[in-house]
Amino acid sequence: MAYGFLLIIILFTSIISPNIHACNQNEHSALLSLNLTLSSPPLNWNSITCCSWEGITCNPEGRVTHLLLPSKGLDGVIFTSSSSLANLTHLTHLNLTHNSLQGSLENKLFEYLNSLEILDLSYNLLSGELPLSLTSSNIRTLDLSSNRFHGPIPSSFFMHAWKLTSFNVSNNAFSSNIPSSVCLHSNPLVKVLDFSSNQFNGNIYRGFGRCSELQIFRASHNSLSGPLPEDIYNATKLEEVAVPLNSLYGGISDRIVNLTNLAILDLSFNQLSEVLPLCLGKLSRLKIIALDFNDLQGLLPQSLMNCTNLVELRLGRNNLEGDITKLNFSKLVQLTKLDLSVNEFTGKLPMSLYSCRSLKAIRLGPNNLEGQIQPEILSLHSLSFLSLSGNRLENVMGAMKILMHCKSLRALLLSGAFNGEEMPSDDDMVGYDGFQNLRILSLSDCDLTGQLPAWLAKLKNLEILDLGANKIAGTIPSWLGTDLPRLFHISLGINLISGEFPKELCRVPALVHQPVAAQEDHYELELPIYSNNSATVLHAYSRLSNFPASINLSSNNITGNIPPEIGQLQLLQRLYLDDNNFSGNIPDQMSNLKNLEALDLSKNHLSGKIPSSLASLNFLKSFVVSYNNLEGPIPTSTQLQSFEASAFEGNPKLCGAPLPNECRIDAHDKNNRDDEDDGHQLPWFYIFAAFGFIFGFWGVCGSLIIKKTWRYAYFQFTDNVQDRLYVMLAVRMNRMKRWLS
Ligand SMILES: *[C@@H]1O[C@H](CO)[C@@H](O)[C@H](O)[C@H]1NC(C)=O
Ligand SMILES: *[C@@H]1O[C@H](CO)[C@@H](O)[C@H](O)[C@H]1NC(C)=O
Ligand SMILES: *[C@@H]1O[C@H](CO)[C@@H](O)[C@H](O)[C@H]1NC(C)=O
Repeated sequence: MAYGFLLIIILFTSIISPNIHACNQNEHSALLSLNLTLSSPPLNWNSITCCSWEGITCNPEGRVTHLLLPSKGLDGVIFTSSSSLANLTHLTHLNLTHNSLQGSLENKLFEYLNSLEILDLSYNLLSGELPLSLTSSNIRTLDLSSNRFHGPIPSSFFMHAWKLTSFNVSNNAFSSNIPSSVCLHSNPLVKVLDFSSNQFNGNIYRGFGRCSELQIFRASHNSLSGPLPEDIYNATKLEEVAVPLNSLYGGISDRIVNLTNLAILDLSFNQLSEVLPLCLGKLSRLKIIALDFNDLQGLLPQSLMNCTNLVELRLGRNNLEGDITKLNFSKLVQLTKLDLSVNEFTGKLPMSLYSCRSLKAIRLGPNNLEGQIQPEILSLHSLSFLSLSGNRLENVMGAMKILMHCKSLRALLLSGAFNGEEMPSDDDMVGYDGFQNLRILSLSDCDLTGQLPAWLAKLKNLEILDLGANKIAGTIPSWLGTDLPRLFHISLGINLISGEFPKELCRVPALVHQPVAAQEDHYELELPIYSNNSATVLHAYSRLSNFPASINLSSNNITGNIPPEIGQLQLLQRLYLDDNNFSGNIPDQMSNLKNLEALDLSKNHLSGKIPSSLASLNFLKSFVVSYNNLEGPIPTSTQLQSFEASAFEGNPKLCGAPLPNECRIDAHDKNNRDDEDDGHQLPWFYIFAAFGFIFGFWGVCGSLIIKKTWRYAYFQFTDNVQDRLYVMLAVRMNRMKRWLS
């Protein structure tokens, strides 16, 4: 009787909805109990047959085959053999991506779930090792990416996965070798392999060549070393080879021309050497070539100029050479990003580049390029990023007069691009629409003479102004403090600026209040801007907003007091006033600069006591007041005592920790010498010592060029994950000057 009733319901439901089957009782209860463990509030699974529930599909026998619950806020531990999941033995598709599931994947469970074809558990909090039993299933797609798995991937893993086509374990903590057995034993159906962002190490061994269907091979950001395996060039279906951020060495073989389907070749941030295959450009499908930060030599292959599909060509920071005038870029109509920086290229700026109408970003320096910027550059209507830093160009005036009409230009980096010319100062030069979108202007290290030109005050979107290391004379104009609503990074160090610190500079709008425009600003630079402010740290900024809010006036001839109004610049993070002629006291109001990370007042004539209120500057990481006439006890705080004594030395009347001399009450300073006013005659060793611990310091080593040697350096991505992602890399410090490029 009851069965008959059930039958009627089954018949009835299959008439109104022929695809929904009555669900197996066992699986029905298994799902209900799963619902209780997984989700609060529980999913709305109420109807009679579980086959119609959200995320469930059954086969005609009423067995659950699909369980698809992506992004449902699920949490709990369910991948154990005692979990009710083990009852869903007909499951072929399990997709629980973007949840908060925890625990490990028990081997035993996947022995039950041996019909699984698609398993997507990406973006959860799962841990433990890879269960070997997964391979005894019919698995085709396995995505365990963005979890916390660890341990090796045993080479036997791929042994039985006959049907595997896509394998993604990126963004976990897997270690040991990347098994190259993937196509040796199993069916070579594999199309996608993603091992990125783990702790894999050792060589990439031969084996991938047998993956005759392999299209995507990614293993970026691991610790892989050795050469690319020779047989990878046999996998002729490859469309993407992306192994950046490793320690691969050796060359790229000429056999790469076999990979006729290749669209993406990303091997940047490795130690690849030798010449680029001359035939590279025969790969006509290439869209992205990223080989920057390697040790490649020789010429830029002429054949690349035939790659009409090329969108990005990044070859910066290598040892490439040759006259690029001769290259004809004009066929690269899709090219949006070109980076040839820090190489040995010679010749003139290639005119043919101006016919690549899609270009958004060009970086051609440092190199040894000559010539002038031509008006034809204005045909690049989308050009937003132009860096020619570190070349030997001429006619800065002409360049600025042309470039100000580049309507899309947002980043203009010309550090060290010119030498010894006069600062373009024609006030009428920039009209109301000139440089209307410019956000960052760098003309540092050009030995430009003249004064701060008044046309700068018209660049209403300017956020970063870098004119350091020139021969700019005259005083600081008041408009610098009042007329540029978004300016937050002012770099004028190493110049001949005189006069006083203008009170208006204490009102720089974007340093007093967060500008509204900046809060809504998500402008991402088309290429990261590199800034190597100290000898070993290279900062890569992909957003301007990640540059520190700073004022750098170091190494000028500025006189007078530090105005107490400076305390209004609440958002200021770095202040460099060192190596000037400031006198008077350190204003107490400086303690209002609550965001200050670095303060350098050294080598001035400041006198009086160090205000005790400075001890409240919690973010201070660098503090230098050496070589002044300061006196009295150094205020006690956890902060100030944590700096080296050298930060205070050269102030004979200063006492207390961290200086060795104790403060004696009523002491008459017998050593009261009067010769402490010549901060300019410092011993060189001091200057070099200072260089080591100062960051963001555009000061002393104007012409220090780091010779071409291998050095281990910290390469810091200042952007991703808000300043928190530090990537340590062996970076070749190749002709790096301390400028923006
Ligand atoms: C899992 O579901 C998400 C969201 O619907 C989807 O984007 C993803 O492709 C699915 N995974 C697989 C392997 O099909
Ligand atoms: C692998 O998964 C990550 C997310 O965790 C995704 O960003 C990446 O594109 C996937 N790889 C492939 C080749 O699809
Ligand atoms: C570029 O393509 C043209 C036409 O297909 C061909 O004649 C020429 O040899 C190619 N150049 C190089 C350097 O491969």
